Amino acid sequence: MSKNALYGRRILLGCGAGISLYKVCYLLRGLVRRGAEVKILLSERAKRIIHPSIFSSLAKNEVLWDQFQDQQFKPQHVRLAQWAELFLVAPATADLMTRFALGLADELITTTCLSMGGVPVILVPAMEENMWFHPATRRSADLLKERGAIFIGPDKGGLASGKKGMGRMAEPVRIIEELTQFFRERETLRGKRVLVISGPTREYLDSVRYLTNSSSGIMGRFLAEEGSLRGAEVTFITGPATVMPCGINKTVRVTAADEMLRQAIKYAPKADYVIGCAAVADFTPEKRVNKKIPRDRQTREVSLKVTEDILSALTSRRRKGQYFAGFSLENGFDLLRAREKMSRKGLDMIILNPVSSMERETASAWILKGRAVRRFHNVSKKVLAREIWNEILNK
Ligand SMILES: Cc1cc2nc3c(=O)[nH]c(=O)nc-3n(C[C@H](O)[C@H](O)[C@H](O)COP(=O)(O)O)c2cc1C
Repeated sequence: MSKNALYGRRILLGCGAGISLYKVCYLLRGLVRRGAEVKILLSERAKRIIHPSIFSSLAKNEVLWDQFQDQQFKPQHVRLAQWAELFLVAPATADLMTRFALGLADELITTTCLSMGGVPVILVPAMEENMWFHPATRRSADLLKERGAIFIGPDKGGLASGKKGMGRMAEPVRIIEELTQFFRERETLRGKRVLVISGPTREYLDSVRYLTNSSSGIMGRFLAEEGSLRGAEVTFITGPATVMPCGINKTVRVTAADEMLRQAIKYAPKADYVIGCAAVADFTPEKRVNKKIPRDRQTREVSLKVTEDILSALTSRRRKGQYFAGFSLENGFDLLRAREKMSRKGLDMIILNPVSSMERETASAWILKGRAVRRFHNVSKKVLAREIWNEILNK
């Protein structure tokens, strides 16, 4: 790991139209001095408060604001989103936060935010206290947090109006410390291999009909992306899910539980960390008919057999140093049952979540690790994925 975690990092610095743009100059200088490569994206109105040449001189890099300027074969927002490792927004004004929360794409800075995909977003708000505490701003901040944005500040202190209160932009020194910490975290899985097993399975009765469940694959997607963001080589085994992760190394698509088991057994031995969050069918038809069963007026009975438990199969083949985490989808929150499952399946961690988490962007969950328990209430699955990795790495 490099001593200076900011060195060589590609940071896209988005700026709203706030008086604390003057502090952003110090922030920019600090980032550049530590070796970060910073491109600056001004809102159209930020450009009315500060002159772009201040930023271009400090960053020795591009300063952009015009969505329609110099397209270079690729729209600016696409190019910037593909380039950036981090989208840092300072100052995040009340207006800009609400436009991000609404998903507006009315100028380059908002369109780029919408194009970020898996790139992390850090917001540094700055505004008068009444603006910060206004329900509209609160709502926008909550929405952005739910979607995984990280906030630095605001702090309490002197404001542009001359009053004291909440809304002061965090000091550049603190922002740099937090970014250093953030990028250090990004290195915590460098050189490691991660296997995430995700999505539903389909158990075919005949050539067209199958038993399945409503797993969307959202949780698995975020766990894989977070693993990849932290530097791991990620393999993703997935059933027929509705979402797929971005930027990972290998995706293996499977359909039925037995196929998922075979692929998991194939890839798990190489993995340092295995996370099983697939909603694997517990039962599969005893017989599969290899054509479409014609409709007739008879009642049919389908005989089902129990499938093999994938995580138990993997932990029974465990090699030294491997870490196994699994999910348990339950009707309620039965911690005793979850603990029993964790020990029966030989897991290091189990994440208990209720059936209501299926097909949703948010979840409530309990993370159980040894005797320790952490509870999360209705958080975005992206945030939950980050916390799960924090817990796994905080061995
Ligand atoms: C001199 C000046 C300072 C301002 N400072 C702030 C500020 O610190 N925070 C904020 O949320 N709005 C501030 N505003 C209001 C914003 O500039 C205004 O809401 C603008 O529409 C925001 O544009 P943006 O979305 O591009 O940031 C300020 C306005 C002016 C004229």
